[in-house]
Amino acid sequence: MEKILVIGAAGQIGSELVIALRKIYGNENVFATDIKDVSDEMKSCGPWAILDVMDDKRLIHYVIRHKITQIYHLAAVLSGNAEKLPLQAWHINMQSLMNILDLAKVVDDIKKVFWPSSIAVFGLTTPRNNTPQLTITEPSTVYGISKLAGERWCEYFYNRYDVDVRSIRYPGLISYKTEAGGGTTDYAVEIFYDAILKGKYECFLKENTALPMMFMEDAVNATIKLMEAPKEKIKIRSSYNVGGISFTPKQISDEIKIYLPDFKTTYKPDFRQPIAESWPQSIDDTAAQKDWGLETKYDIKVLTKTMLEGVKQKFK
Ligand code: NAD
Ligand code: SER
Repeated sequence: MEKILVIGAAGQIGSELVIALRKIYGNENVFATDIKDVSDEMKSCGPWAILDVMDDKRLIHYVIRHKITQIYHLAAVLSGNAEKLPLQAWHINMQSLMNILDLAKVVDDIKKVFWPSSIAVFGLTTPRNNTPQLTITEPSTVYGISKLAGERWCEYFYNRYDVDVRSIRYPGLISYKTEAGGGTTDYAVEIFYDAILKGKYECFLKENTALPMMFMEDAVNATIKLMEAPKEKIKIRSSYNVGGISFTPKQISDEIKIYLPDFKTTYKPDFRQPIAESWPQSIDDTAAQKDWGLETKYDIKVLTKTMLEGVKQKFK
């Protein structure tokens, strides 16, 4: 019987991943934790707790008490917020991962760990189109540096201690259930809220800035598929490239206009513009397809329709 701990369950990914995991493993077997309150939906259908991943003593107590067998560690400071407080972001992103890896090393019941990396591990010297799995990684943000260091630690714990840690370099994730958590790709979520609520959007990136993106359902399915794959299929123990689709603010704005012809986007690039320009425009994810069967189904058209309907429903 799997007992799954999700850390950072109230966030953009956690809020949807917990619900998906509960459907597979049973409500009572997926433990949703965060430093802030989780949603009423999550509270009503399974166990949850306020738990700080930085508090290693409470963490180990919680894991042993609930006989946890898998951990999804989602807590982090994202790229935009991390640039405001770099040392604090570095401390949180790294120490939280070390707490989890060390826990998985010493607690025999823990069989698998998921920890997300990001397209932020790449930098200005990386080929920006169809970015290969194995290429130059010279990130220029504190967030990217923490993700790259995290990848190295994951691979180290696998090689040295046989900790079965698995990882995806997520692109920008797009969803309507929970707002985005302070990243550079957040514009692609905000634009749908403002389209529905205000009929206009001021974008913090330039109109022609292409970035890889993925709809949350595809990301959640990919994550669970990776975690359910047999151990021997996981050939990459740093983190798998996962690309999804690529578009610019102008392209997504034009798609929204098909449904809302009066919608207008203006552009006022801020400190996140150079971050976006240091990241790939599209990603080669053939290793993930080959090793554990990555599949995605949302293109820009289906994504736009689903987001507009989802946001509209939320504010009805
Ligand atoms: P988010 O900011 O929406 O959620 C993170 C959650 O972690 C928040 O609910 C926060 O309260 C919680 N948290 C923060 N500090 C904590 C602590 N000390 N203890 C316990 N919980 C804590 O982030 P997200 O978008 O859901 O991202 C989850 C993970 O995926 C992160 O590691 C992020 O770097 C990675 N990722 C996200 C994206 C994306 O586009 N959303 C892309 C690439 C990688
Ligand atoms: N969406 C994330 C960010 O912008 C990418 O890791 O920070």
